[in-house]
Amino acid sequence: MTEDKELRIPQHVAIILDGNGRWAKAKGMPRSYGHIKGCDNLEKISDVAIEIGIKYLTVYAFSTENWKRSKEEIDGLMKLFRQYLKKCKKMADKNHMRVTVLGDPRAFDEDIQESIREIEEYSAKYDEHFFQIALNYGSRDEIKRAVNHIADDVRAGKITGEITEDMISSYLDTAGIPDPDLLIRTSGEQRLSNYLLWQLAYTEFVFMDVAWPDFHKEELMEAIRQYNKRDRRYGGVK
Ligand code: IPE
Ligand code: IPE
Ligand code: MG
Repeated sequence: MTEDKELRIPQHVAIILDGNGRWAKAKGMPRSYGHIKGCDNLEKISDVAIEIGIKYLTVYAFSTENWKRSKEEIDGLMKLFRQYLKKCKKMADKNHMRVTVLGDPRAFDEDIQESIREIEEYSAKYDEHFFQIALNYGSRDEIKRAVNHIADDVRAGKITGEITEDMISSYLDTAGIPDPDLLIRTSGEQRLSNYLLWQLAYTEFVFMDVAWPDFHKEELMEAIRQYNKRDRRYGGVK
């Protein structure tokens, strides 16, 4: 077995944080309890990611489809986002980390939008680590917004030549961030649920049965060990 110290650490890890609700239910607790514990775990895992040398971490915390959940669950999640975004400044300072929110913030209450603007502006001075939180994010929505933006720029004469793949990437919410090397989804589900469809074109996928609140350093290392066993190829070549 490869010793952990010899492991290649992926530069960019994307995670679908799934399974909070079922984790809580199994403990006889409400779903909102699972989200609280999931949120605590996110703070811990972002520290672990930095400790082991991951430069880019991108997490899926709330999808464009998640608005369909009950009012009680949505209210609980909004409360958590409010608290979490406020804590992000300290985390950014501690880890020299630039924080960016992927997704369309306009659906959130004004104070949440303001917190998003604040943390993005405040942490823009850091370029050692990069932490992306997907909130009201859907990949199809992101691509739709990018295409509309490109169309606007074509009409305004800012784009004249052919539209290239690199140009499309630069209009996405992840502009400037390299594509993920490793995608992890917890909770046993094996689907993308509208996450980073463009960016994951050549990413290695690792699906794990553990629920998000139980995903700790050991589980992250296990995912990285699996990643190390993969023979990465891009169209037949390494
Ligand atoms: C992931 O956990 C967190 C969010 C989508 C906000 P879930 O809430 O999807 O938990 P399960 O999948 O129902 O167990
Ligand atoms: C995907 O999880 C979105 C997030 C983790 C934020 P869901 O639990 O919402 O996805 P589905 O409904 O199982 O596909
Ligand atoms: Mg789920």
